[in-house]
Amino acid sequence: MELIKDGKRIDGRAPDELRPIKIEAGPLYRADGSCYLEWGGNKIMAAVYGPKEAIPRHIQDSTKAVINARYNMASFSVEDRKRPGPDRRSQEISKITAEALENVILTEMFPRAVIDVNIEVLDADAGTRCAGITAAAVALADAGIPMRDIPVACAAGKVDGVVVLDLLGDEDKKGDADLPVAIAPRSEEILLLQMDGHMTVEEFDEALELALKGCREISKLQKEALLKKYKTFEEE
Ligand code: CDP
Repeated sequence: MELIKDGKRIDGRAPDELRPIKIEAGPLYRADGSCYLEWGGNKIMAAVYGPKEAIPRHIQDSTKAVINARYNMASFSVEDRKRPGPDRRSQEISKITAEALENVILTEMFPRAVIDVNIEVLDADAGTRCAGITAAAVALADAGIPMRDIPVACAAGKVDGVVVLDLLGDEDKKGDADLPVAIAPRSEEILLLQMDGHMTVEEFDEALELALKGCREISKLQKEALLKKYKTFEEE
């Protein structure tokens, strides 16, 4: 299967184009903060609870809040039904998500507390770790959790020898490389950087630059979603 034809990708995008993204802040009533995100074929709900007392006490840190991130893929979210419950992949993604978020949340303000970050993937089509972090960031802001910045994530990669932004499912499966990146957008400090596959140093630099460009675009959408919620709130 050809992934790039006449400079266009299988869904008609240019190499440096993002899939369509829709972000809604605060759709859940009972969560302290929430976000629903549609990004290409991905549909993701993020819900934040806390800060609250960490129980059992042995998980408490007397100097800061603990970030408890849980990435979960619904069994119906992928083509071959996924066995429900945690697996190695979801444990890995939960861990890297918590580590990325920990770097921007002012955890020292809440010693002995826990902040639960739940990410539910309802439909998956590549890039779900980036979509999960992006949604979790909006949910954290919606919950009023103090942060240095609102983190954002996006992947770039290589398909048919071309460096491209934001791989979709078939590009991820059949492509050459995938590079998910999360940043704190104001300083562009990197919070997450992973890579699958092979790229030359030059291709890596190009892919990283593209991923940063994607992050800048998505960061604007996150802020618009938050502003929209609080504007509606004010009007009510
Ligand atoms: O989603 P992300 O690209 O962050 O992570 P990945 O491990 O590279 O997975 C890429 C894609 O493979 C996912 O987004 C799903 O669409 C698909 N996948 C799947 O079909 N079945 C699984 N058990 C896990 C992933």
